[in-house]
Amino acid sequence: MDYHVKDLSLADEGLLRMEWAEREMPVLRRIRRRFAQEKPLEGVVVGACLHVTTETANLMVTLKDGGALVSLCASNPLSTQDDVAAALVKKHGIPVFAIKGEDKETYYSHIASVLATRPRVTLDDGADLISTLHFLAQGREGELSPSLEEAFSPWGQEERESLVRGVIGSTEETTTGVIRLRSLAAQGKLLFPVVAVNDADTKHLFDNRYGTGQSTIDGILRATNRLIAGSVFVVCGYGWCGRGVAMRARGMGARVVVTEVDPLKALEAVMDGFMVMPLMEAARVGDFFVTVTGDIAVIRREHFAVMKDGAMVANAGHFNVEVDLEALEGMSVSKKRLRTFVDEYTLETGRRIVVLGEGRLVNLVAAEGHPSAVMDMSFADQALAVEYLVKEGPGLKPQVHRLPRELDMEVARIKLESMGIKIDSLTSQQEEYLSSWEMGT
Ligand code: NAI
Repeated sequence: MDYHVKDLSLADEGLLRMEWAEREMPVLRRIRRRFAQEKPLEGVVVGACLHVTTETANLMVTLKDGGALVSLCASNPLSTQDDVAAALVKKHGIPVFAIKGEDKETYYSHIASVLATRPRVTLDDGADLISTLHFLAQGREGELSPSLEEAFSPWGQEERESLVRGVIGSTEETTTGVIRLRSLAAQGKLLFPVVAVNDADTKHLFDNRYGTGQSTIDGILRATNRLIAGSVFVVCGYGWCGRGVAMRARGMGARVVVTEVDPLKALEAVMDGFMVMPLMEAARVGDFFVTVTGDIAVIRREHFAVMKDGAMVANAGHFNVEVDLEALEGMSVSKKRLRTFVDEYTLETGRRIVVLGEGRLVNLVAAEGHPSAVMDMSFADQALAVEYLVKEGPGLKPQVHRLPRELDMEVARIKLESMGIKIDSLTSQQEEYLSSWEMGT
């Protein structure tokens, strides 16, 4: 079996942590049991590019139990948990290509290794597999990385096309990936159907909000061990993730400032009780800054220039483009690593700016990503999306699709059940009332 992980001797530790996560994943467990009996993915080659965490490992095992032939690479060079990668290889026989801290070329060579298995279904977190497939189809993979070019140089045009044509469909986990794929679809260039797992209610309402909320604070705390109470905590972006981060920072006693570009979201933040102001103003008063917008160069030169001495800057958005580190490097006279994932930049003025997690997703770099209980739903959605694509993919148009509503509701139902929470159901009178227009009183 081909694989590339840091150290197989970490496998025992990784397995224990996988099992610890699985305890909090009752929905995925139930799907895994059904998959093991029904084998809905029998013989289907599946390639995944996801953060290599304990929860992802449980998803991989679920797909394998469903009969799939799975391989996995990382969706971020810094988010891999090396013990988990080792456990998947050694204890579960699943090929993994991921090493925490891998450089860009290794990252892409790992993507190439997964694509070389000729997956029929792919799973993405940030659309790197799908976009690589699209670059390959056009013979442009060298634009992404020399290592991709090298890996695919023996492949002729026909072979590349058959690789891409062989894809029944893909799933996409995160907001940024869905945005990229919608833009590809809008240009009429998307080559196969994609299920936007992020858009399922059981995903973004919980994972983006409560998962990112808790784990971002967790990452900041593990990296710095600083007190949040009494600080001014600036959150850039009040989408699903931003709401979660703002809510949790407030819960820890921070005075939270929100910055936004969307008037509706800004208004919502105001009425949720947060201070809202332009980042240029917030930059002068913040102690902590978290950007979680999915946008580029959100915190940049003019903001760094006015920040307080010791201000801490982190990103929880998908790509490491939200904090303009190039500008910060350019303005700095020195840079020093103070602790793991804590880099201090000293400006000409003598003021120091502290960047956490190298500007990459702080919750995955400095902590362990979202808690398992929330990934339970996201990855139940993923498992059901893969099953759906295997069944229905050939009939779907090459567009971005939502996970069918009934699957989304099914995940919510099982999650509630696993928490021992019962809810009411509509009486027949209520059903009739809610579906009629004549009954006005
Ligand atoms: P969203 O679309 O719900 O929210 C993004 C918000 O940022 C929007 O309200 C938008 O108006 C605002 N925004 C855009 N540009 C801005 C700017 N220059 N200044 C201030 N606000 C700005 O997206 P969501 O779901 O909250 O995701 C945000 C990012 O986080 C994405 O990149 C997503 O992929 C990523 N993500 C990260 C996770 C993690 O584990 N760290 C988990 C889930 C998503």
